[in-house]
Amino acid sequence: MKTPTVTGYPLWDLPTRIFHWSLVVCLVLAWWSAENDNYSLHEWTGYTIIVLVVSRIAWGFFGSRHSRFRDFLAGPGVVVNYIRGKGPKRVGHNPLGGWSVLALLALLLMQGVSGLFNSDDVLFSGPLYYAAEGSFRDTMGVVHDVAFNALLGLVALHILAVLYHQFYRGEKLIQAMLRGRAADREGETAPTTAWLALAILAVVALCLWWTISRAPQPVPVW
Ligand code: HEM
Ligand code: HEM
Repeated sequence: MKTPTVTGYPLWDLPTRIFHWSLVVCLVLAWWSAENDNYSLHEWTGYTIIVLVVSRIAWGFFGSRHSRFRDFLAGPGVVVNYIRGKGPKRVGHNPLGGWSVLALLALLLMQGVSGLFNSDDVLFSGPLYYAAEGSFRDTMGVVHDVAFNALLGLVALHILAVLYHQFYRGEKLIQAMLRGRAADREGETAPTTAWLALAILAVVALCLWWTISRAPQPVPVW
């Protein structure tokens, strides 16, 4: 059993926390706006989610230690041991939670990218709708629908798991995701500079803007 560290370093660096809570807000707004046919809001929250998720994936390679994928993606043996209550205590995401983080990111990305090719056939079409063939658009429409239901299920599990650890096991997960660290939840190394995250975010946003601005427009029917 590992003894708690007292390093003063955050477990979750500032970019990871900003990513998390912005994602929560944007996902709620994306859902609400789709239900209420507010497509200008839907479009912008969708773009924001794409930029946040792609940046978070890059942060999984270049970010602070506990935000990196190699820190929390463990092999099947480690996951099974964790489920059986064996194995050492870990500081960041637990071995099961680590894979659920990856699944959440993958689903969010699928949701965002499929939206770019989607249309409600009346009010709004995604910016890449006219860049694709009809059958591909149809598939993306189905993906946009199915991925969202899967996302809702996984988010519900995520919140239940967090509440279980927080209130049944007495671990201060929520405090750590809000403040960076909490008792028994501290980082083991100094965080990577947040400026790098800002640079990544800017590059990802520019790439998305560049792709969208070059997309073919509908041919006008006179
Ligand atoms: C609305 C939907 C939500 C989504 C899509 C979501 C997604 C995520 C993701 C992707 C992570 C991994 C963070 C990272 O490593 O970058 C995470 C972690 C976390 N989330 Fe959420 N989250 C949601 C809602 C919530 C809510 C409502 C709470 C509070 C009750 C919460 C509490 C946490 C905590 C405490 C962690 C860290 C878990 C740990 O210590 O291993 N999340 N969430
Ligand atoms: C990850 C972010 C996104 C989430 C969570 C999301 C969620 C949703 C939801 C829940 C619906 C209603 C589904 C239905 O009733 O069929 C919907 C519909 C739609 N979304 Fe998104 N969306 C996202 C991103 C985007 C993006 C980036 C675009 C395009 C810019 C987009 C375009 C559309 C369109 C055109 C519809 C209408 C589809 C229809 O009526 O069949 N979405 N979205």
